Amino acid sequence: VLCWLYIFPVYRLPDEKEVVQGVLLQQGRAWRRNRSAVAGFRKLLKDCCDPGRFFAMTKENSPVGKNLWYDGEFLYSFTIDNETFSLFPKATPFQLPLKKCSVVGNGGILKNSGCGRQIDQADFVMRCNLPPLTSEYSKDVGSRTQLVTANPSIIKKRFQNLLWSRKAFVDSVKVYNQSYIYMPAFSMKAGTEPSLRVYYTLADVGARQKVIFANPNFLRDIGKFWKNKGIHGKRLSTGLFLVSAALGLCEEVTIYGFWPFSMDLHGKFISHHYYDNILPDSWFHAMPEEFLQLWFLHKSGVLRMQLEHCQ
Ligand code: CDP
Repeated sequence: VLCWLYIFPVYRLPDEKEVVQGVLLQQGRAWRRNRSAVAGFRKLLKDCCDPGRFFAMTKENSPVGKNLWYDGEFLYSFTIDNETFSLFPKATPFQLPLKKCSVVGNGGILKNSGCGRQIDQADFVMRCNLPPLTSEYSKDVGSRTQLVTANPSIIKKRFQNLLWSRKAFVDSVKVYNQSYIYMPAFSMKAGTEPSLRVYYTLADVGARQKVIFANPNFLRDIGKFWKNKGIHGKRLSTGLFLVSAALGLCEEVTIYGFWPFSMDLHGKFISHHYYDNILPDSWFHAMPEEFLQLWFLHKSGVLRMQLEHCQ
């Protein structure tokens, strides 16, 4: 038994109360970015996943004829044809490195945070899953967006897979102004067509938002990176994925709305999202585990995690 324990040590995640206590202990201390820790982490990310080159599908990294295997499917793959290739930008379409980035998760901790202005002050604002940005939220979550992720499942649930009228969709993405909509089009077979439909819908109406496609190999590499660090969820949450990409693409990263717990730091109950309290279908992701990894990055000065109200 001892030998077994040595190989697989019993590992217990701290419970919510313990996490809150740990975070509170740290709150009084001044936070400083640690340049060498930032550089060290960026090097780890470059070695495993090279976000600057592989974040999105580009003409450089995804030539015609390349075969992409869908996640968890042994029978289906997608071969890049001329038409799909023509939808890719030549290279990652950002001026790299990006300077200051805000990555905004959708956690209820953002509600009444007053963080909107601070979020918007960054050079590049990234958001998850087409979140609501109406005026009632802007003082807490801001209104600028340079990149927003969109999952094919949202397109199915909220916009009937764009099979009928597309106006509701085109109107709803106007709040993201001139941003990139980042879609994992080639991760699951069922997601490819809706993602391509999103692309053509926006291109056809000359919308200001542009679709770029997530590179499935990059998603997989980032997943492996965190698995090696002990994250056990079946799939990485969109938020952790985006923070990882940001750490590879940006010089300074501040994250907001990452708090997968039901109480805030003062013991007040909070909703799961800043806009509703619908819990995830299943604990597909290992959010508390992910949180601890992000918290560790905060403590080591790699990124800044905003949990309190903004000034
Ligand atoms: O669909 P998913 O659960 O991944 O995401 P979401 O609910 O739209 O939220 C976007 C991201 O914010 C998540 O992927 C998490 O990384 C983060 N989040 C969090 O840390 N705490 C919460 N209470 C809610 C979301």
